[in-house]
Amino acid sequence: MNLPVNFEQTLSLVGVSSFRYYETIGSTNQVALDWLQQGAPDQAIVFADHQSSGKGRLSRTWVTNPGSAVAVSVIFKPTPEEKKLSYLFSPLAGVALADLLRNIYNLAAEIKWPNDVLINEAKTAGILSEANWEGDRLNGIVLGIGINITPQSLPPLENLQYPATCIQNHVEIPIDRFQFLAQFLQSLFNWRKNLTQPIFFNSWEKLLAFRDKNVYIKGNDGSTICSGFVHGILPNGDLQIRTEGQEIKTFTVGDVHLRQKQVK
Ligand code: BTN
Repeated sequence: MNLPVNFEQTLSLVGVSSFRYYETIGSTNQVALDWLQQGAPDQAIVFADHQSSGKGRLSRTWVTNPGSAVAVSVIFKPTPEEKKLSYLFSPLAGVALADLLRNIYNLAAEIKWPNDVLINEAKTAGILSEANWEGDRLNGIVLGIGINITPQSLPPLENLQYPATCIQNHVEIPIDRFQFLAQFLQSLFNWRKNLTQPIFFNSWEKLLAFRDKNVYIKGNDGSTICSGFVHGILPNGDLQIRTEGQEIKTFTVGDVHLRQKQVK
């Protein structure tokens, strides 16, 4: 699919420094990681209409069918201040997308800790952040975001790890994926300006899904580690769960999954 007329200019206006677009590619994150190593500038992006082997979290694959989704990887060269808070780049994408969906599309989007974006408790976007190190120096971060736009973006039911939805199913006017990408990038780069400020953390916490709802915390092997209520997040991004005995337990990103307990 060809890019819309003047799209290069649109990308530059929202703050993109350079871009690579592919009709079909394996994974935009992989292209961006290679580009980062070869010296890509801050706020360069890689996006594609179709990904044949997109990467998901925990070594899963992420399907991107042609003409149906936004698949983009954003390259960040963090400032010294941002480097101290580099774990915030994944939630940055979640906050930027949820904020866009709320303010422009009037949807009650939320963030399932740590950073899946939900509409009506179903996942509409996934985020995979990958860092590139030169020895012990952080060279840059690739922030990959896959956003389900049309129903064709949804994986087959048997492959679903979690209920999924797409934005078009909640919005009456047809969504133009390229315009949506530009709006998302604008929101992302605006929120980046607040990354090291309290407003960022407060907004992330306010958008947290399942607050005070009964949830399970599951290990990566699917076993239940704890059950309780979503209490909040700590400034380092850890999740706090309040058990039925009113004890606060803390969990770290990557170690566990959050699942809502179904009410019978
Ligand atoms: C998840 O498992 O929830 C994260 C999915 C991240 C998918 C996006 S699509 C664009 C970018 N390129 C990739 O290969 N993966 C990310």
